[in-house]
Amino acid sequence: MTTPIAHFNGQLMPLDQVFISPLDRGFIFGDGVYEVIPVYEGAMLRGREHFERLQRSMDEIRLDNPHTVDEWMGLVDKLLKHHPGNQSVYIQVTRGVPPKRDHVLPKGLRPTVFMMCYPLASPSKEQVESGVACITARDFRWEKCHIKSTSLLGNVLARQLSADVGATETIMLRDGFLTEAAASNVFVVKDSVVLAPPRDNLILLGITYDLLVQLAAEGAVRLEVRPVAEAEVRGADEVWLTSSTKEVLAVTTLDGKPVGSGKPGPLFRRMHALFQEHKARIRGTVAA
Ligand code: PDD
Repeated sequence: MTTPIAHFNGQLMPLDQVFISPLDRGFIFGDGVYEVIPVYEGAMLRGREHFERLQRSMDEIRLDNPHTVDEWMGLVDKLLKHHPGNQSVYIQVTRGVPPKRDHVLPKGLRPTVFMMCYPLASPSKEQVESGVACITARDFRWEKCHIKSTSLLGNVLARQLSADVGATETIMLRDGFLTEAAASNVFVVKDSVVLAPPRDNLILLGITYDLLVQLAAEGAVRLEVRPVAEAEVRGADEVWLTSSTKEVLAVTTLDGKPVGSGKPGPLFRRMHALFQEHKARIRGTVAA
């Protein structure tokens, strides 16, 4: 297999030739932000929105963006020339390489920019048709979960709790309310109404979350954005996960108990179909 091509500080080069200084603040402090963009046959799904969110994350951590949204889109297109088909594009920007380790934000550093691609692993037919198992856990992360930060130890440790028992995700609860999962957003359905947790600092506002809200409105599916209590999660008719790589997936068992009927529900099937139609439309926007 040939080595994938990566982007590193303005250059395209084989991934195995990218070397990053141990003094890089991304390595030393997890001082960086990132994005993951799904690409279907050359077409980014909501690429512009991903780079707008990158800008918001950079604003939150006081990091100057080295590129405009248009420049970012162009850089991804160049990288994608080396990676046809369905891809996940990973973009990371760190605060750069200071002369010494010091918590205080250094001035005048050039941010480190890194991008790579890997084949997009969309959910399998089996996962879509049967749904997936999840567990719940207390949300023990910090209070700035809206920043797409590379400091992911809280998410990593949360995700491992579900991996340990062979489950797909860890759905987190903070002070009796649903937040999100370790690497996905969570929606709940009760009595034909979709409930989505608020767009606040306790969740990463997913690009897929926003797309789902839009598709629900277009498809006349009732959706409310409001705090979702733990009891509503446990008593839900349906629970879904969304993310750039998972699209929308039904959760059919939670902590070993069936969710609703124990099968992907009717509103999941509707939203999944709307999502697939949306994907087909964006694929059509890029010439083969
Ligand atoms: N994760 N919440 C968290 C904590 C996430 O890490 C993610 C995505 C989401 C969903 O966001 P989006 O719909 O924009 O992908 C929500 C990515 C895919 C990852 O870290 O690999």
